[in-house]
Amino acid sequence: MPRFRAILDTMPPYKAGKAVVSADGRSYKLSSNESPYEPLPSVIEAISKAASQIHLYPDPAATGLTNALAERYGVPPEHVALGAGSVTVAQQLFETVSEPGAEVVYAWRSFEAYPLLADLAGATSVRVPLLGETHHLEAMADAITPRTRMVFVCNPNNPTGTVVHAAELEAFLDRVPEDVLVVLDEAYREYVRDADVTDGLTVYRDRPNVAVLRTFSKAYGLAGLRVGYLIANEPVAAAVRKTIVPFAVNHIAQTAAIASLAAEEELLERVDSVVKERTRVREALIAQGWTVPITEANFVWLRLEERTTEFADACAAEGVAVRPFAGEGARVSIGSPEANDTFLAAAAAFRNA
Ligand SMILES: Cc1ncc(COP(=O)(O)O)c(C=O)c1O
Repeated sequence: MPRFRAILDTMPPYKAGKAVVSADGRSYKLSSNESPYEPLPSVIEAISKAASQIHLYPDPAATGLTNALAERYGVPPEHVALGAGSVTVAQQLFETVSEPGAEVVYAWRSFEAYPLLADLAGATSVRVPLLGETHHLEAMADAITPRTRMVFVCNPNNPTGTVVHAAELEAFLDRVPEDVLVVLDEAYREYVRDADVTDGLTVYRDRPNVAVLRTFSKAYGLAGLRVGYLIANEPVAAAVRKTIVPFAVNHIAQTAAIASLAAEEELLERVDSVVKERTRVREALIAQGWTVPITEANFVWLRLEERTTEFADACAAEGVAVRPFAGEGARVSIGSPEANDTFLAAAAAFRNA
């Protein structure tokens, strides 16, 4: 038997959101925070053209996409680092900072990949419990030690949908030592409507230890193609670029991301529709008697505690897949109006049972 790393015995595997089908064949996947929309015709057309190039390796520096992002956000191309989905960029960040004994601080519960990536990189996870449903930034600052290399702030937080506000984020950043990297994970940034939530891209410019993580998977609807990026000052972005597996972002993905930036207006109209549905779903749940934290992402969070699994099963029986975290709660993505109505009916039936 070959010898494997001991950490593999204890590492929790990443659980992707599942699809379910009801007895009468209905299936609504509200478990992965995906876009409910099919790809735009202009993006499909770009992908079709790019297909003729797949016998060649992609541009390893993804020059076209890097420049398009730099132009879009008014940043130098040297501030951009790409990866195969932002989860891979997060993995690269762990590889950039981790050494034996290195600590990485993050809120818990937050994005499930953080503990996994920390384990894989040989870093020690320091989990700081949420205060209610929100990051406890003061406690996170208190948790920083001389061993801390990196802190993740997931804003909005997955799975609770809550945000940290400008003043508390600034106060937190002022307390973080300059040699600790703060990653603002803004995978859901495009869904934020609360004007008091800082855009990481304005914060990072004056803060050499802040990096912003974004993705094409959610608002831009490219989850299946795996493109994410980081924007940070040059030393951070350059260090992260060094950790990329060569050719990680393929040519079709690069092309589709460029086409999506070109079609941004149309895509952001879709985001507006999801935000409207989010308000409708949350208000309907509250009218049913549920407590639902204000969400700035494309999902809602129900703290069901010991009834979480039972709730997920009841939704599954109606063909609605939600994302349960046993003993804690369920995250439910905002889908099409039909999917949302089916979910709301299942939630109402569960309350009234
Ligand atoms: C907070 C957060 N960050 C990063 C990701 C990773 O997304 P992707 O790798 O598809 O860019 C997700 C996906 O669910 C997420 O919720």
